[in-house]
Amino acid sequence: MWQELIGSLISSRLRFEWRYWRGQTPWDTQITPPEVMEFIENKSWGKALDLGCGTGTNAITLARHGWQVTGVDFSSKAIRQARRKAAAKGLKIEFHAADVTDLGMLTGPYDYVLDIGCLFGLKENDRIRYAGELARLLRPQGEYMLYAWLPRPWKGGLRGISAEAVEALLHDAFLRTRFVIGEEKSFPSAWYWYRRHKSNSTDAARTAARYMPFFPGGIHHKAVQLALAYLQETTPSRRRGEQPATP
Ligand SMILES: C[S@@+](CC[C@H](N)C(=O)[O-])C[C@H]1O[C@@H](n2cnc3c(N)ncnc32)[C@H](O)[C@@H]1O
Repeated sequence: MWQELIGSLISSRLRFEWRYWRGQTPWDTQITPPEVMEFIENKSWGKALDLGCGTGTNAITLARHGWQVTGVDFSSKAIRQARRKAAAKGLKIEFHAADVTDLGMLTGPYDYVLDIGCLFGLKENDRIRYAGELARLLRPQGEYMLYAWLPRPWKGGLRGISAEAVEALLHDAFLRTRFVIGEEKSFPSAWYWYRRHKSNSTDAARTAARYMPFFPGGIHHKAVQLALAYLQETTPSRRRGEQPATP
């Protein structure tokens, strides 16, 4: 009981940091999953964002295939390892030790956003902030891939996110194009493929209205910024003639 109480008081960031320090990171397989490899093989390169990138395995795979990559994780230990791994391979990747719910330092737009195992661990309000940042940063028609645990028993409660909850979080700004249920260590998990809607004024108004309550002070400038980001018609970076990162 004391352990549970202390555990709930320790922030998620400290818990992850501690696990990276202790090397208790079973997810850190150094292998990019086949779903991501399939995506890479079928798409031409552009700008990619890896949310909860850990030690950078997937960011590095993307960069090796010509993508210009940004990785974000709130564990400084993980980000240090990611930077070392990328440098050892001679890859230029932008890594940030930051929270995925507050990505003000990024302007995007990105052509591809990847999340392997980050979103489902966030609290409800943080998931909403995350979805707002995702919608702001992914260009219209850009692709988002998510791997998340489906709800499973965990320390006397449940951990994970249902497909319905993912859909409720994202459907205003994204269209689900594919969904595959799988299994990880005998527990259900799922891969999701979403495409960002083409932005339009209805979309912008809906989003502003939806996120307004989370920005105290009424029509806060951040909500207006979100709406404006939705209105922006952006061009994929690869069509603007930018060069890929050195493989
Ligand atoms: C299950 S691990 C997966 C790591 C990596 N995607 C991989 O496949 O190896 C989840 C990662 O999300 C990070 N994370 C969790 N919540 C976060 C948050 N709010 N902001 C930034 N990173 C977060 C953790 O530090 C951890 O590295």
